Amino acid sequence: MLLRTDVFRHLRRWAPVLPLLVLLAGACSPDHYPQTALRPLSDFAKIGDDIQTKTFYWALGVFVLVEGALLYAVFRFRGRPTDAEPRQIHGNTVVEIIWTVIPALILAAIAVPTVKGIFQTSAIPTGDVLNVQVVGHQWWWEFRYPDLNITTANELHIPVGQTVSLRMGTADVVHSFWPPRLAGKRDVFPNRETRLWFKAEAAGEYPGQCGEFCGIQHGRMAFRVRAQTPEEFQAWAAHMQTLGPKPAKAAEAAPPAESVRTASAGAAVQAPQKPEPGKGAQPTAAGRDSAAAPAQPQDPAYAAGEKLFAAKGCIGCHSLNAVDPPKGLIGPNLANVGARSYIGAGSFKNTDENLARWIQNPQALKVGVLMPNLGVTPAEAKSLVAYLRAHQ
Ligand code: CUA
Repeated sequence: MLLRTDVFRHLRRWAPVLPLLVLLAGACSPDHYPQTALRPLSDFAKIGDDIQTKTFYWALGVFVLVEGALLYAVFRFRGRPTDAEPRQIHGNTVVEIIWTVIPALILAAIAVPTVKGIFQTSAIPTGDVLNVQVVGHQWWWEFRYPDLNITTANELHIPVGQTVSLRMGTADVVHSFWPPRLAGKRDVFPNRETRLWFKAEAAGEYPGQCGEFCGIQHGRMAFRVRAQTPEEFQAWAAHMQTLGPKPAKAAEAAPPAESVRTASAGAAVQAPQKPEPGKGAQPTAAGRDSAAAPAQPQDPAYAAGEKLFAAKGCIGCHSLNAVDPPKGLIGPNLANVGARSYIGAGSFKNTDENLARWIQNPQALKVGVLMPNLGVTPAEAKSLVAYLRAHQ
């Protein structure tokens, strides 16, 4: 009886804190954490999640049993000042065998699905797979599609329902490729290929992150995986195969500005110069805030940007060719930079303002990034933004 009134008195004291706890629990909603391994969306991610879920419930069972026995013993056998010394059971062989065997059995039970999962996730996929080469760089990700002859950076487009087979390496130090909703971490090493595969189950844009400390901007070595319907993916790939530098045109010779509106984003997208099947289906500019139509090749700002891209030396590190870009360039491929959701490897929303800030002073946004400050004025940055924005 004494115990119960004690408990109620405690509860009353903590009552004002309860709404706060409810709020805190609400903040734990998975919607606030898109980069979570606890909401798997691929066959690969589900293997890991299954093991974690099983282990969690077994651990919960162990916790309830152990804590239950402990609490029972604490209250049932609690000492009183008048008690004599209890019987000592030190060296009881039976008890020691029991508490050795039970944990061993628990570990064995966890090992069975774990080892099975390790073999499953280490297998090399065969059949109708999409091959992608992943190259880690300080601090961004390069994605090459050898069968489609496309190169891009920081945004990995994949089709839903088809296994993606990644062959991964690095251009410099060890990184770790980690798209939590689609697969577990896989380290990438110099001079050694690692493999990863997964089949996305739902279309969407999923954030990923370098999972291995790789230098001062390790934290800003993020990427996005854009899982698309097979049709959208095919259209995107076909569109990418047309991407190269779009030369400025003289105003009088230019055809009327032609643009298409994507259903998914409602964003104006510059039509590719060559007509090709499925144009307009790619969800370009989907994640951008500013969805204004990009500059056209006949705009003066565009022409000025094109000149600056060469004059300021951008061209020495960045290619605007998605197909067969020159080898050995150290900057991310920019063939579709205008359509990406983020710049700086997942660091900043790809708005005109952020892109201009980046071009003028990348070191202020991402200290230590290889891109130097090139002495670009605000007016020049505006022209460069107009030029780059049109490449999407
Ligand atoms: Cu790359 Cu951390």
